[in-house]
Amino acid sequence: MRNGIPTWLLAIETSCDDTSVSVLRDGREAVATVSQAQVAPHAAYGGIVPEVASRIHAETIDSVCGVALEQADVGTDEIGAVAVTVGPGLPGSLLVGLEFARGLAFGLGVPLVPVNHLEGHIAAAWLDVDEGPELPAVALIVSGGHTELVLVDAPGRYRMLGRTRDDAAGEAFDKVARMLGLGFPGGPAIQKSAEGVEDTPYTLPRAWLRGTSDFSFSGLKTAVRRLLDDRLGPDESARILGAANELVRAADGDALVGQVALAFEESVAEVLVSKTVSASEAVRARSIIVTGGVAANARLRAEMAEATSIPLFIPAPARCTDNAAMIGLAGAWAMARGDANGERLEIQPSMRLV
Ligand code: KG4
Ligand code: ZN
Repeated sequence: MRNGIPTWLLAIETSCDDTSVSVLRDGREAVATVSQAQVAPHAAYGGIVPEVASRIHAETIDSVCGVALEQADVGTDEIGAVAVTVGPGLPGSLLVGLEFARGLAFGLGVPLVPVNHLEGHIAAAWLDVDEGPELPAVALIVSGGHTELVLVDAPGRYRMLGRTRDDAAGEAFDKVARMLGLGFPGGPAIQKSAEGVEDTPYTLPRAWLRGTSDFSFSGLKTAVRRLLDDRLGPDESARILGAANELVRAADGDALVGQVALAFEESVAEVLVSKTVSASEAVRARSIIVTGGVAANARLRAEMAEATSIPLFIPAPARCTDNAAMIGLAGAWAMARGDANGERLEIQPSMRLV
């Protein structure tokens, strides 16, 4: 026990479609993290099916937890606190994680610590580094459900600078991937498709929303739809919508898919990078954090690094996508500020950061 933080803390994350458990030493070092993604069961539907997600969490959480403890070589009885994501997220998925965590904490007689998933994404920037970001920092959280630009004054002290007015960045990746017949999850599929393409004849719009730090991605999605209509004809374009198929390739070879994927990545990356850097300069941030599933994107990482001399913290890709290590670290922050406990904890599917 140091500063109220136990030597071993167990963290659980089930807010969406990843079942993840991590064991942390001193609330800082993720010694073992085991994550089970549910890609295949959802791919058939082209997106996450909430009922399927919660059922799989319920089936796998126990074994994922067992493997994490085994890998960390820590006995259950050594665990001094259990941290768990309580929101935001899918209600059924959150509930499985919370009830499992509650049972474990109650059985062991240790504190149960509620964690905000978005604070977890921010905390990921402090994993695996000797010195974390200097504060104040500006954090860009880009995931399947969120696109938020946040001023981090201190752990637990956040100010919202801007957010998306419609789709989240990851949602745009997923929807555009679907239009291109690339399947689910869309982010990695678009990255892979764009990787081999040197240049694209297409330029997609950028929604600047000047004078704000807000974002918008729904127009970009419509522009991709229109481009496909133009190139393929509306009938063909409508026919491929939503179907993981070979039709786009058949109509035009791989070229069209890769070129549109690249144009899409360029548009998203340019807006995210430019607005994050401007906001960081405006508030004189000492560091920039980019986190959440979309921060795993290679082009975004590279362009962000090129665009600023402010120290940049982008967690390793496996720490950007949902994982319990970041929840453990945020759990330790929550314990340090006295947020631990509750027997009466409930899920908060629409929980906000500020
Ligand atoms: O943070 P996350 O794992 O879950 C949420 O909290 O939503 O983010 C998932 C999102 C998905 O939309 C996925 O397509 C996107 O992150 N993503 C990526 C990449 N890897 C995951 N987007 C772009 N490029 C990637 N390499
Ligand atoms: Zn997330």
